[in-house]
Parts: sequence; C-alpha cells; structure tokens
Amino acid sequence: MNMIELIRTRKSVRTFDGRPLSEEDVKKLSDYAATITNPYGISVSFVFLDAKEHGLSSPVINGEHLYVAGKVPMVAHCEEAFGYSFEQFVLYAWSLGIGTTWIRGTMKRELFEQAAETADGELMPTVTSLGYPATERAEADIKLRATVHGDERLEPSELFFDKTFSTPLSASDYDDALDAVRWAPSAANRQPCRVVKDGNAYHFYLKHSSANRSSATWDVQKIDLGISICHFMNVTGGEFSIADPKIGTDESTEYIATVTIKNK
Ligand SMILES: Cc1cc2nc3c(=O)[nH]c(=O)nc-3n(C[C@H](O)[C@H](O)[C@H](O)COP(=O)(O)O)c2cc1C
Repeated sequence: MNMIELIRTRKSVRTFDGRPLSEEDVKKLSDYAATITNPYGISVSFVFLDAKEHGLSSPVINGEHLYVAGKVPMVAHCEEAFGYSFEQFVLYAWSLGIGTTWIRGTMKRELFEQAAETADGELMPTVTSLGYPATERAEADIKLRATVHGDERLEPSELFFDKTFSTPLSASDYDDALDAVRWAPSAANRQPCRVVKDGNAYHFYLKHSSANRSSATWDVQKIDLGISICHFMNVTGGEFSIADPKIGTDESTEYIATVTIKNK
C-alpha cells in the first residue's frame, strides 16, 4: 500500500483476534520506532508493554496482548511533535497489517504511566493497543464507533479554505493531501484541524472545542494537529515552518504551522 492508501484504510482497531504479535513484527515495530523523527525536533519515545505482565487493559479494547506508550518531554510544541511521531508509528504498524487505537481517556492512566516509567517533566499523552484485527467487532467497539461517528468526517468545505477563512476551498483544489488531512484520527473524532491554502503554502490552524480548552496542562487537540500535519507531509513531502501569516481568525482558532509544497 502506498501512503495515501495506508491513510485512507487505517481505522481504530479495538477488537483483536487474540493472537500475540509475532516476534518478527514486534522487532520491526521497535526498530522502526527508534528511527521516528518529527519536524519539531522533539524526541518521542515508545515503550512496549506486555498487557499481562503489567496488568494493563482498556474497557473498549478486546483481544490485545501488547500496548505501546508514547512519552515526550514537557516542552513547547510537545503535543504537536508527539502527534506527528505517534501517527508515524501507527501508519507503520498498519503497513504491517497491525491494528492500533490511540487511547488517551479509556484507560487507567496511572497504571500505564507507572508501567512506562514516566519521569517528572515528561508526558505520556497516549498509548495504543496493538494486534491483528479480528474479523468482527466486539460490542463495546461497535458502540464506541457509533458514539463518535468514527466512519464519518466533516465536509471539505468546513475544513479547508482559500486565502482567508471566509472562502471555502474550491472542489478542484481538494486533492489527496487534503483528503489525508480530512481522514486523520482525532480525539473523540472532533476534527479540530483547519487549513488555509495560499498558493503553495498550507497554513494549519486548530479550531478549539470549548470542552477541551480549559482543563489540563497539555492540549490533546494539539496532538490532533500533529497527526494532520503528519498525514499532509507524508503525502506531499512539503517543507515545514512556523511563521504566522496573521490571517484573521475567530477567538477559538489558533495558528499552528505552515507546510509549503515545492514545484506544485
Ligand atoms: C489523541 C487521540 C486520543 C484518542 N483517545 C481515544 C480513547 O481514549 N479511546 C478510544 O477508544 N479512542 C480514542 N481515540 C480514537 C478516536 O476516537 C478515533 O480516532 C476517531 O473516532 C476516528 O475514528 P478512526 O480512528 O477509526 O478513523 C483517540 C484518538 C486520538 C487522535
């Protein structure tokens, strides 16, 4: 599968067939994890955790034997960097036929943080379960997908804009790269990523859901933005920068980064 196919076919897998991953697949995953980088230059580490050994589970996951926890130092842009790197891992797993689900909420966080030996000054924003997908989904999986409308996404006209936020991007400018952004996974499928295209520059913005903004010391929706940027850069090979173009936005919308495509 090429990158766009990987992105389009990936779905959160919450029901596994009960087989542990082969040693060969675990090795491929851990070798790959050690090579993952992101455009922020912030190091993300991946900790492989045997579910039984550490007593780890999630109420929405069935048939898993292995979790991987991601850790990142608590610094500026750590969420976007984390989103980017963890999604690279997710896409690589899928290229091997291994299912994953980003998990931020449906777990006993302290247990996972302890098992991953999370240090002071470090964040363990999410984990993923890993395994071979089962042919049929368990009931909890079916219910969760229905609650978050996991098979749906907002219309392109609500996500992508031309030069300013007042003009939706024309259908002829909607290409594979933007489709890859549209199908990015996001926490509770809230899809906070917005993109304003100006020539070869694609400006990425975060439209905050009020439900998410107030609480924690870190912002899960910035992770979602890192995922979207990861998809876009994988498809386009574009150049990453942070240089706010000062396009007028509403209060809930925040500039995150720009990706510029060469020779388009
Ligand atoms: C940062 C992040 C956190 C998530 N946390 C959870 C979670 O705690 N439990 C869960 O079942 N799914 C979680 N998800 C998965 C989303 O619900 C899922 O990606 C979304 O509904 C879209 O479905 P899809 O991944 O099948 O395309 C999370 C996704 C992201 C990106």
